[in-house]
Amino acid sequence: MSPRTHKSVTVRVPAKVNVQLAVGAARADGFHDLANVFLAVSLYDEVTVTPAETLTVTCSGPDADQVPLDRTNLAARAAEILAARNGRSDAVHLHIAKNIPVAGGMAGGSADGAGALLACDALWGLGTPRAQLLEICAELGSDVPFSLVGGAALGTGRGELLTPVEAGTFHWVFAVADGGLSTPAVFREFDRLAEGRSIPVPQAAPALLTALASGDADALAATLANDLQPAALSLRPQLAATLEAGTSAGALATLVSGSGPTTAFLVRDPESALKVAAALEASGTCRTTRTATSPAPGATVLPS
Ligand code: C5P
Repeated sequence: MSPRTHKSVTVRVPAKVNVQLAVGAARADGFHDLANVFLAVSLYDEVTVTPAETLTVTCSGPDADQVPLDRTNLAARAAEILAARNGRSDAVHLHIAKNIPVAGGMAGGSADGAGALLACDALWGLGTPRAQLLEICAELGSDVPFSLVGGAALGTGRGELLTPVEAGTFHWVFAVADGGLSTPAVFREFDRLAEGRSIPVPQAAPALLTALASGDADALAATLANDLQPAALSLRPQLAATLEAGTSAGALATLVSGSGPTTAFLVRDPESALKVAAALEASGTCRTTRTATSPAPGATVLPS
């Protein structure tokens, strides 16, 4: 079947956790230079595109009411940009089956942008080269290129310049908080907390990269680091209780995921994941939990 005969295309896209997020000083363009070690985890959104009269977005899933359905949605922007670059209409219906926490620091919005881009490319039979897709992803947002490629990667620049890194299998629990945190607000809080201090140039930690490659959970636990964590905790002090509940339940390490407020718990195996998830839910310090493994594949067109 030629791509042009597709009636609809569905793409599955993973969430991410940052096992190291080293943040540099604010740049002239308002962004921060990062050394950002991304891991894709097996929590997925699915984006389905279908030809339509105009560009529309719908969303399903437990947190669907928190997802913007206008052209600010990165999925809609992806369709717009790809259509404009190819001088064609962007009239598609985009449906997002949302499973990644919304505004949670797990790149859920970025996942939908990457997913819509790949899905529209397939629906419209464009065959856009990978390098161009990555360029559009970077235009959409700093985390979007990683949503496309998945796996494990070091992101430099503002996080959009990716180098693949080796990663063994790891098991995770994520605690989803009530309400999101705005990424720009967390970076602003980082700047406020850093005022008057000299900020080193962000660099990936060799010990962390070695631990990641080895698949040794204890070694990774000793090296997890997120420079945005103090800022996220400053804006949302309640997260400290969630982190503590995970530690008490036996997590090997705890971390705010990206800019938060989702918290991530590294555990030894799937059994520990279930135990830590149950304890976190019983603690009353989070809204819900998810378990996942890493690394997970990047955006993938599902068979129709
Ligand atoms: O790239 P993205 O649109 O996801 O970034 C959202 C906001 O997060 C930016 O406007 C900026 O305030 C902040 N940010 C940053 N440095 C980065 C990435 C994001 O300051 N490297």
